[in-house]
Amino acid sequence: MLSCDPPAKKNVSPTEILADSTFDTHSYSNTDEIRTKHLHLDLDVNFEGKTIYGVARHEMINKGTDTAIFDIKGLEIQKITIGKGDEKETDFMIGQWDKDSILGQPLLVKITPETKYINIYYETTEKTEALDWLEPELTTGKKHPYLYTQGQAILTRSWIPVQDSPVNRITYSANVKVPKDLMPVMSASNPTAKNDRGIYEFSMEQPIPCYLIALAVGNLSYRKLGSNCGVYSEPEMINACAYEFADLPKMVRTAESIYGKYLWEQYDLIVLPYSFPFGGMENPRLTFVNPTILAGDRSLVSVVAHELAHSWSGNLVTNATWNDFWLNEGFTVYFENRIMEQLYGKDVSDMLMLVETHELHAEMDEILQGENPEDTKLKLALAGRNPDDGMTQIAYVKGALFLKTLEQTVGRKRFDAFLNSYFNEFSFKTISTERFVDYLDSKLLEPNKVQFNTKEWIYEEGLPKNCIQIRSTRFEEVQQLADRFIGGEDIFKKKIKYVKIKGRKRKKKVVEQLTRDRYITQEWQAFIRRLPRNIGKDNMKRLDAYMNFRDWGNTEIMTEWYVLGIENGYNDLRPSIEKFLMKIGRRKYLMPIYKALAKKKEDKEWAKTIFYKARSNYHYVSCKTVEEILGVKVKS
Ligand code: BES
Ligand code: ZN
Repeated sequence: MLSCDPPAKKNVSPTEILADSTFDTHSYSNTDEIRTKHLHLDLDVNFEGKTIYGVARHEMINKGTDTAIFDIKGLEIQKITIGKGDEKETDFMIGQWDKDSILGQPLLVKITPETKYINIYYETTEKTEALDWLEPELTTGKKHPYLYTQGQAILTRSWIPVQDSPVNRITYSANVKVPKDLMPVMSASNPTAKNDRGIYEFSMEQPIPCYLIALAVGNLSYRKLGSNCGVYSEPEMINACAYEFADLPKMVRTAESIYGKYLWEQYDLIVLPYSFPFGGMENPRLTFVNPTILAGDRSLVSVVAHELAHSWSGNLVTNATWNDFWLNEGFTVYFENRIMEQLYGKDVSDMLMLVETHELHAEMDEILQGENPEDTKLKLALAGRNPDDGMTQIAYVKGALFLKTLEQTVGRKRFDAFLNSYFNEFSFKTISTERFVDYLDSKLLEPNKVQFNTKEWIYEEGLPKNCIQIRSTRFEEVQQLADRFIGGEDIFKKKIKYVKIKGRKRKKKVVEQLTRDRYITQEWQAFIRRLPRNIGKDNMKRLDAYMNFRDWGNTEIMTEWYVLGIENGYNDLRPSIEKFLMKIGRRKYLMPIYKALAKKKEDKEWAKTIFYKARSNYHYVSCKTVEEILGVKVKS
């Protein structure tokens, strides 16, 4: 019998075909008619004026249209030419802003059906949302300025005119000019030392969606950590970075042993200034991370496992639109947890998952009671809204729990075989939720005759009843400890134990005093979360006196503690909270702290004064979030 399968498309490079017709409501571009195949950037980074002068040279695949549409937001377009070598100026038109200024503006360029090369000459403005320009005092070294970009979800269009939809993949190259005392790095092949000219060349040869184009410029040094991995940071931090990320080579090998070869050659990290709005961002070949993950004890490296996992889920197999965001993040949290399990054991990975599951439940309740309960579905409907609204624990943790429940149902062996073939089949492609559901049915569920409530998980609100239950005896122990403290027991009391010395003599020894290193970060988090929300100032004071949670140094613990303190009117914490909010711009921490402060009038006023002082150290995305929480508008 003849096979009915369509001919294998394997030989067709994904850069040679037009994007599929998936409609992306967050981009104006007409990628189904014409699309960028390769982008070359000529960039001149100007710190005095805080602008980038750029030429975006797009090499297109053109189906025969006479108009190419790009996305721009707050960019000044100087001129547009067509052709390579022999460039001719052409007409263009900039369309209206959308109602809530989320998408920016369409840039329509007049071309001919034969046009292949479009060159856009432009300059970024102070309205750019992707770029964070930092004065020297906001860096660790305090001598040099710093610049970094954040592209996801739709901010790339605010520093480069592009067809800013994840449905399209491009390769890119760049020539970047920077002041001579600084070094630029990108999500591409990178320099490891400064040169005398201040001009650097980059190339990214694997096709990527535009949200992964990234640039950082600063006084950077590099430390190699393994044959294909290392870390960039300001020189003042490089030793701390090398210590914290010593397991990086092992992590890369571990990830490869689970879902196949790492296809991006190099895997480096760059530790940015504290203002970076995320814990990590999976820019290919060069993950961007926030220095808050330098806890000093390697206890927050799961963020790196997460960003590394994106090298498969997200960067290799990419969500087709932002409504399919859970395909990026849910798979990544699942994979992150597998890496952590293999490296540090199942009790550690279970604790990590439990901490996140707890956050999922809290956020799920909040969303279900809010204006958009449909945001608790995995498949989102974000047309007309900011795609960042989809960045909730639903995509991350409900997504991961869905995969974990599937794994439990079919067994790890079959599930891994399925995921391996998934990453293989869709590598360097985009995928929609619907396509994934088909693939899951035909490759995993039907062949194994498994019934599964996939549709309920993906298209319905809330958490299905068959969700996997994770338990941790280590958590139960710290939770009991918290209960004993609340019950009035002095859990910090030194206990005296008698130990035998040389077989006969008994000697007193002080043991069992509760110290910080008795538990890992996630256990302390579970301890704090177990405390009653109305624990009272005196109890908090007592805990602070022994444990010094307020200045713990670990930002996960500190944030939990500050929120509890604010809820209990424990104002002794204010100096520590102020210091924290002035230094750190990571949204995950700013959000719960400012939200807790916004609940009481007096706290809110105090929070506003802090925010006005701190905001120059926050990236646009964090600024916007805090403005919404406090109901103020200060940065447009
Ligand atoms: N890709 C995300 C960050 C992101 C998502 C930026 C959507 C903009 C829009 C990144 O991989 C991420 O998830 N970071 C997390 C860390 C992680 C361990 C959950 C973060 O920064 O909190
Ligand atoms: Zn992620």
